[in-house]
Amino acid sequence: MQEQFEATLARGDRIEPRDWMPDDYRATLVRQIAQHAHSEIIGMQPEGAWISRAPSLRRKATLLAKVQDEAGHGLYLYSAAETLGTSRGELTEKLLAGRQKYSSIFAYPTPSYADVGTIGWLVDGAAICNQVPLCRTSYGPYGRAMIRVCKEESFHQRQGFELLMTMMQGTDEQRAMVQESVDRFWWPALMMFGPPDADSPNTARSMAWGIKRDTNDDLRQKFVDMTVPQAERLGVRLPDDGLVWNEARGHHDFTPPDWDELAAVVRGDGPCSAERLAHRRRAHEDGAWVREAALAFAARAEADRAG
Ligand code: 3HC
Repeated sequence: MQEQFEATLARGDRIEPRDWMPDDYRATLVRQIAQHAHSEIIGMQPEGAWISRAPSLRRKATLLAKVQDEAGHGLYLYSAAETLGTSRGELTEKLLAGRQKYSSIFAYPTPSYADVGTIGWLVDGAAICNQVPLCRTSYGPYGRAMIRVCKEESFHQRQGFELLMTMMQGTDEQRAMVQESVDRFWWPALMMFGPPDADSPNTARSMAWGIKRDTNDDLRQKFVDMTVPQAERLGVRLPDDGLVWNEARGHHDFTPPDWDELAAVVRGDGPCSAERLAHRRRAHEDGAWVREAALAFAARAEADRAG
């Protein structure tokens, strides 16, 4: 069985739910997919807070659609995790008990409307860099979910860029709002890719299994290289004096973010960590009656069929 698993990976084929897989491969997938699903759901909060305050009907409709897309992404991902023998309820309980994580980026506040644009541009831009390679991940249901997620993330990234471009063509005050937001989000966006490769306990094994296709540092570099010309186009400054093109490497050099800060956020000590989890807990409890009603309906339908 192990041989067949290895041979499937060596051929570049996918592992499917009914295939035999090592326990550690399954556990790693559940960990990563659950964390990813939780990130999508918790990620609705920072931007959702702006829906009722969007400055026009068009901006409101776009933001509403975007936040709903995040809910959809969470659901595809929970479904992918269910194919590994774990339920959405179980994963949610683990998140609420602090036993599973969500992306560090969503532990930061969104005090300015420009943050809606910056999240679209930088955060969804980083998410695309990380997730496009995951369309080729070795586990079938995860890779297939990623295809649709990435298409929608591209729309999210463009709406963010367009929002910021509109603000940059506005007043001095609007341009200052964009710059202030980019100054706050640049470093947390770099942290989204995880710790440096040398301090990433999971990367080597996840790469060997084809779960991850690139290392954290490679994806971070790709994101920086992709973002610099976009920042120039927008006319915003990325807040790093060490950000320079390195001709010999064919890449930009840049200052690493504060890894101690990432570690603290991952531990649950981010600026909004407690608030995000409390909100998620409240929403879960408020939805209890829906889950009970759905179960009662299913039981009655089953009894009707049997009787
Ligand atoms: N935030 C929170 N935790 C993080 C993190 C981050 N930015 N980066 C790393 N970690 C955690 C890891 O989960 C791991 O903890 P664990 O072993 O207890 O689970 C630990 O820190 C060590 O990190 P590793 O590099 O060894 O972990 P991974 O190999 O799993 O790599 C990852 C981390 C690159 C985030 C990888 O899990 C991944 O690619 N995940 C899928 C994508 C994802 O989850 N993205 C989240 C953002 S979703 C999003 O952006 C929504 C969009 O709509 C905006």
